[in-house]
Amino acid sequence: MKRRNFLKGVTLLAAGGALSGPVAGAAGIIPSPFDAAPASGQDGIEPLKGLSPVRSLTPEVSRPISVIVIGCGNRGRTYAGYARKFPAGMKVVGVSDILEHRARYLGDQHNVPAEMRFGHFREVFAGGKKLADAVVIATPDDRHYEPCMKALELGYDVLLEKPVAPTKKECENIRDMVKKTGRIVALCHVLRYAPYFMALREVVKSGVIGDVVNIQHQEPIQYAHMAHSYVRGNWRREDETTPIILAKSCHDLDILRWIIDKPCKYIAAAGSLSFFKAENAPEGAPRYCTDGCPHQKECPYDAVDIYTRQKKHIGVFDLEGSRDAALILSRLKDPRYKSYARCVFHCDNDQPDHYVAIMGFEDGVTASFSMDAFVPSGGRRTKIMGTLGYIEGDGKSFTVTDFLTRTPKLWNHEVAEIGEYAQSGHGGGDLRLVRDWLEAIDRRDPDHLSSSIDVAFESHMMGFAAERSRRSGNKEKIK
Ligand SMILES: NC(=O)c1ccc[n+]([C@@H]2O[C@H](COP(=O)([O-])OP(=O)(O)OC[C@H]3O[C@@H](n4cnc5c(N)ncnc54)[C@H](O)[C@@H]3O)[C@@H](O)[C@H]2O)c1
Repeated sequence: MKRRNFLKGVTLLAAGGALSGPVAGAAGIIPSPFDAAPASGQDGIEPLKGLSPVRSLTPEVSRPISVIVIGCGNRGRTYAGYARKFPAGMKVVGVSDILEHRARYLGDQHNVPAEMRFGHFREVFAGGKKLADAVVIATPDDRHYEPCMKALELGYDVLLEKPVAPTKKECENIRDMVKKTGRIVALCHVLRYAPYFMALREVVKSGVIGDVVNIQHQEPIQYAHMAHSYVRGNWRREDETTPIILAKSCHDLDILRWIIDKPCKYIAAAGSLSFFKAENAPEGAPRYCTDGCPHQKECPYDAVDIYTRQKKHIGVFDLEGSRDAALILSRLKDPRYKSYARCVFHCDNDQPDHYVAIMGFEDGVTASFSMDAFVPSGGRRTKIMGTLGYIEGDGKSFTVTDFLTRTPKLWNHEVAEIGEYAQSGHGGGDLRLVRDWLEAIDRRDPDHLSSSIDVAFESHMMGFAAERSRRSGNKEKIK
């Protein structure tokens, strides 16, 4: 480890020693909750101090960036939400969705004129003219490539949902097109913008735990989320979307690559669909949970319970703000949404419900990854082993222990405490990403973004290699 890093790290952990404190009153900076010490005393662990302040979500732009939202589902609505909170930064001037009611709902929220409400994304580009500064592409995984290439060709800047595209060739083409056109493109690897992961990486970069030698990382999907998205829902089939290692866990491969900050050389993976298949259906289970299933009370995957009582994942039902149980139940019986009422053992799904991978990075650094459906709650868990210290986190809080003092320090700041970040999903990352993207557009500075296509390309190659390995049983080089 470099001596410079060693000293820097020691400074970070020194009792209360701050690398940079809150910048009171500075433009765009809000007082850092990391330095406000609310964590003191919790579980008897000292709070970690000295991290960079968190910037406000208010964008520093010279004018509102005009945006067309392509795909007005869950993610399209999320990103469009930024414009309602920060109208000085972004204006939604167009919407596109093949489901007319979704384009209408979002269009009405943003007062989009009739001539800027489109159906299929091809209608947006049909005139061959640029109609806004930028587009948000939040269509399903297999429908990112065409609108992204077309948007770049016409000179739009792009906020592109992950994964980039389902094949290596398409990812390469998009990467090359971004280079050729010089447009500002952010991939929605939102975790990079979440205060928790930013703090985690900052601690690693400070050198306080020495050189990273190994990381253990888990993505606990959670049993009901698995059933919703990867058994009943849109990402249940690899051929219609992308393999789950990309559809769900390109975030995790990306975070590992980002924290280790060295290229990944090889990957070996295993995993399968073990549980959610017909042979495991209890006797007499009907095709739909709403058809009087005799096992309803003892089944944790009962759709009626998950949606109408627990009210989880109800965004897919186009409830337009309602949470009414009777309305949700009627949606479960409505042919347009009935697929979400399917018995988890009677779906046409093929995504693995457990997936493990080991990775070798440059300089002998290693990482292991586990994606698990069968856990009670979500929240990524990470253990980082360094030559001088150790970090352990659960997606909300983490402790840092250096081997010299052996005194753990705690970072446990709920995003809800961080003012404007409270309403932002993915631990605050969703809206922070939009802000950085708008600022990058305004400044014409791609380096303002941490999730460029170039870096996303690398973690996607890790995902493709993992899938090759899972199928072949071989350790695969990243290429
Ligand atoms: N960054 C993240 O953390 C994150 C989280 C969830 C989903 N995603 C990704 O975001 C994308 C969208 O996911 P979602 O949850 O919003 O899905 P969704 O189904 O809620 O929304 C997608 C929308 O695209 C519309 N659409 C489909 N084909 C279209 C076309 N040809 N033209 C215009 N609109 C079309 C659909 O009708 C739908 O309303 C996916 O690629 C998904 O993998 C990313």
